[in-house]
Amino acid sequence: MKYVFSRYSIDYLDFPISTGKESVVFRAVSGKKFIAVKIFKMSTLKFMNIRKYIEGDQRFSKIRIDRNDIIPVWVRKEYTNLMALENAHVPAPKPIGFFKNILVMSYLGTKSGPAPQLKDVDVNEDIYTQVIDGMRRMYASRIVHADLSEYNMLYHRKVYFIDLAQAVDIDHPMAAEFLERDILNVSTFFEKHGIDTNPDRIREYIKKK
Ligand SMILES: Nc1ncnc2c1ncn2[C@@H]1O[C@H](COP(=O)(O)OP(=O)(O)OP(=O)(O)O)[C@@H](O)[C@H]1O
Ligand SMILES: [Mg+2]
Repeated sequence: MKYVFSRYSIDYLDFPISTGKESVVFRAVSGKKFIAVKIFKMSTLKFMNIRKYIEGDQRFSKIRIDRNDIIPVWVRKEYTNLMALENAHVPAPKPIGFFKNILVMSYLGTKSGPAPQLKDVDVNEDIYTQVIDGMRRMYASRIVHADLSEYNMLYHRKVYFIDLAQAVDIDHPMAAEFLERDILNVSTFFEKHGIDTNPDRIREYIKKK
């Protein structure tokens, strides 16, 4: 317990922001601040589905993973990825700590409610630029999100990237494939909202030195 709570203590869980298939995210209160607590559902996270995101990643390949002990590795992976984004100045929740199947991070939103997903935001050219800039910085810091879509970006005065457990190192054998999928999702979403974009242009921009 000490690790999670070394910098923040959780006074109470306020309400669930999201209840998904694989996790529940709560807004929690810590002193005068809000924080976010993501609890992974041990029973529904499928070993086979998440293994491929861990095994090919050189940062995690030395860790022995077995069926009963993969969730803590998964949580640590999201924490590590959030740290990498923080160091690379990519807007994302700030990692606070982790413990077993629990990840604690900064809360995006206001007193009255959490920040909306990009899918519920009236997007424009400026928001599109923020997204591809973020993708570019992420790639430069050696990370491919691997589940990027309008569901995994929040808008709170600017665009934030969330949901990083599956994100992989750029040398992961499937990194190029994951990146293509991310690019396609982003391109399709913005095209749907009348913004002129295409996957080739995005790829070129992201990989530009
Ligand atoms: N730091 C945060 N601050 C505010 N809201 C958050 C934060 N992190 C996550 N959320 C909200 O919780 C939702 C789910 O979080 P996330 O995408 O990380 O989990 P998930 O793995 O997609 O869960 P599932 O697949 O079970 O739906 C997000 O779409 C967002 O609305
Ligand atoms: Mg998500």
